Amino acid sequence: MVFILDAMKFPEGFLWGTATAAFQIEMGRGEVDPNSDWYVWAHDEDNIRNGLVSGDLPENGPGFWELYPEDLKRAKEELGNNAFRMSIDWSRIFPDPTWDVPVEVTFDPDGNICHVEVSEESMRLLERRAHQSSVQRYREILEECRRLGLTVLLTLYHWPLPLWIHDPIACRDDVFHATRRGWIDQSTVIEFSKYAAFIAKTFGDLVDVYATINEPMVVSGAGYLNKKSGFPPGLENIDLFIRVSKNLAIAHGIAYEQVKRWDRVSSSNYGPAYVGIVHCPQYYEPHDKDSKDDVEAASFVEYIQNEWFLNMVLKGDFDLNIDRIIDRDEQRPNLAKGCDFIGINYYMRNRIKAAESKIPGFPGFEIVPCTENCTDMGWEIYPWGLRYELNWAYKLYRRPLMVTENGIADAKDEKRSDFLLSHIREIYKAITEDGVPVKGYFHWSLIDNFEWARGFKMKFGLYKVNYETKERTPTKAVQVYKQIATASLH
Ligand code: BGC
Repeated sequence: MVFILDAMKFPEGFLWGTATAAFQIEMGRGEVDPNSDWYVWAHDEDNIRNGLVSGDLPENGPGFWELYPEDLKRAKEELGNNAFRMSIDWSRIFPDPTWDVPVEVTFDPDGNICHVEVSEESMRLLERRAHQSSVQRYREILEECRRLGLTVLLTLYHWPLPLWIHDPIACRDDVFHATRRGWIDQSTVIEFSKYAAFIAKTFGDLVDVYATINEPMVVSGAGYLNKKSGFPPGLENIDLFIRVSKNLAIAHGIAYEQVKRWDRVSSSNYGPAYVGIVHCPQYYEPHDKDSKDDVEAASFVEYIQNEWFLNMVLKGDFDLNIDRIIDRDEQRPNLAKGCDFIGINYYMRNRIKAAESKIPGFPGFEIVPCTENCTDMGWEIYPWGLRYELNWAYKLYRRPLMVTENGIADAKDEKRSDFLLSHIREIYKAITEDGVPVKGYFHWSLIDNFEWARGFKMKFGLYKVNYETKERTPTKAVQVYKQIATASLH
């Protein structure tokens, strides 16, 4: 291994970090946040009874809210990292509605929100409205990162929505009569822009690198196309899926503008505001390469999962009838506001088999279950796919990239070290042999955490967590990551 590490010299300034999300790590010590859709969703008895969610509760989590000093110290000292990806939960900052904070909203001729103006006066209102102890705690966490020399990549929205915006149970039970409908309604885009402006203004002195949204295609796909996914609001409705995806794409652009406007303070070479989105292109392959139907199904899944959303955000191509042709009225360059980098979350290869279609007009498909090289999630380990996706994203969108997530659920700690090394090698090849500008790598995750619908059973941490005592224990991969990170830090 020493030989491999010596041979890998990453570009100067490369960010080495771990990735986390607020809801998955914070609770367990200190103040519980019951004010989000995910909190209510995870507690809902029908969801638990129907096996949609595990029954594990986020308030029994790792307790980063209080234990952050020791966790960040691990990242710095034991992993040799120089960066850290974290998110802020919107419901912690604004547990109560911000509807009445006035902003000026501009719509395009088709009724899409194309600009939101937050005035100084409205910012003062937001500052008064924000939950002060949460603001204070996030500031302490960010200051600790700075003190340790960890460059923060801050995600504004990593899935939980405030309850006053989204009632997931009412939506699950009767979405057409529900009133708080999250990303289905454009009003959420307006509230998101206030929240984004507030975060950029409040923490801009400590943060330069932002991701607006984490994996929008999981929010819309798992939430609105697959009742059994265990994600709120658990619907299957193609029109809602398209509407939510479109609103998320618009929300990225509007939030991008807010962060650029309100963060005027540089704290690193990336400053004042380097703003991207985090997407999750996986490697898709037809189950049988000689079957025309499988090939077609795989190509459809690849298009819709990997490309469709980024085309909206980066090119303003809103292919809303999903026919792969951008008609004149689907061209919306005014909604593509910008994206300084693309975050790539890469986990697996998926083999796709044609199946009966559930949506008229679209090819049906199923994912063939993993049989070899599988993680505890049942995902197939396939490192070369990461190099492929990095090349793919750069070729299509010509933006710098960051690997914002990559990791493995591996309770026995048998495969994690190889997983880490083999994926980092592929990144290295993408940079040095293919010329792809990859700026950083964030391993998912620093510590075991609340894996959404699957709860605590899935162990993604470089450190194991004992949920009773909150004690952390290093996995074997800690040493491996430290060697890689420190060997290439200049
Ligand atoms: C998400 C994380 C999640 C991880 C593993 C990503 O889709 O951003 O929140 O825990 O994958 O499933």
